[in-house]
Amino acid sequence: MEEYNYHAPVLLNEVIQYLVTNRSGVYVDCTLGGAGHSLSILKHLDQQGLLIGIDRDEEAIEYARKRLISFENQIILVQTTFSELSSILTTEQIKEVDGILLDLGISSRHIDSIERGFSYLSDAPLDMRMDSGQGLTAETVINEYSSAYLKQIFKEYGEEKFAGKIAAMIDKARQKQRIRTTGQLAEIIFQVVPYKMRMKSAARIFQSVRIFINDELTQLRNILTQILPCLKLHGRAVTLAYNSLEDRMIKEFMQEKANPCICPPDLPVCACGRLPQIRILTRKAIQPSEEELARNPRSRSVRMRCLEKIA
Ligand SMILES: C[S@@+](CC[C@H](N)C(=O)[O-])C[C@H]1O[C@@H](n2cnc3c(N)ncnc32)[C@H](O)[C@@H]1O
Repeated sequence: MEEYNYHAPVLLNEVIQYLVTNRSGVYVDCTLGGAGHSLSILKHLDQQGLLIGIDRDEEAIEYARKRLISFENQIILVQTTFSELSSILTTEQIKEVDGILLDLGISSRHIDSIERGFSYLSDAPLDMRMDSGQGLTAETVINEYSSAYLKQIFKEYGEEKFAGKIAAMIDKARQKQRIRTTGQLAEIIFQVVPYKMRMKSAARIFQSVRIFINDELTQLRNILTQILPCLKLHGRAVTLAYNSLEDRMIKEFMQEKANPCICPPDLPVCACGRLPQIRILTRKAIQPSEEELARNPRSRSVRMRCLEKIA
């Protein structure tokens, strides 16, 4: 079995099985990361097949380029956000693609690179930027945003019930000294939250700040509007979401596109004329097997969904 130092691809077999339907097709991996999924996609394509890989993190692009070197004539890698998908396709003069993969969030490399400040279990500068070239860091948000704004971030993006108390404690702490590290922030959370819940609260607070500074929900909203115009008829999109905010947004998007009719249920025939644009191929979200969970506990929260464009 292959060893993954950068990131172990989640639900690898399931992703390939749902996504790759045309061996000579064009596929977009919007979240290249360590290229685990991309490598497997390429192995399932013939020499006509093409893979476009996108990641906002320069390190991921560099790593993936080395890992995919034996396919160098069949790949186009771009360092940018996936909200640029349509314009990348226009630049490459590609009208539509056979499949789009979205494996959201951060990679294991992000968590394990302590200096990038994503983990509440170690002490490092409060950073949390996926693209280290971007301006806003977690340190700026934690020290310079009002406590009311922080509370809103913790509630909205972390669904954290101690949001108000944690924001107030941050405000108190930063009046004495600037909060510069992940360890300091974790310590403040631990002071507020009851012992048994402290790890989960820390995870939620860190997640909320990360989602906020990387504008992850806007990115997702944006790419969802591009998926159908970029897919060929019968092309597929596979999504892997790791938190309920993202999974809910994807689920609602799919339901709306699969069942857009707005006629009252008692009307015998549809009068609104809104026709389904997609078929949902995963009636319930797919989750990892016991075996995958044991091998890769970081896969535990994933929900995989897949759609096929039908009109
Ligand atoms: C879960 S990892 C993907 C892992 C990958 N599937 C693999 O097999 O190694 C998510 C990756 O997507 C990137 N990413 C997250 N949001 C992005 C966005 N809006 N635009 C481009 N890349 C993004 C992150 O930098 C990270 O490398």
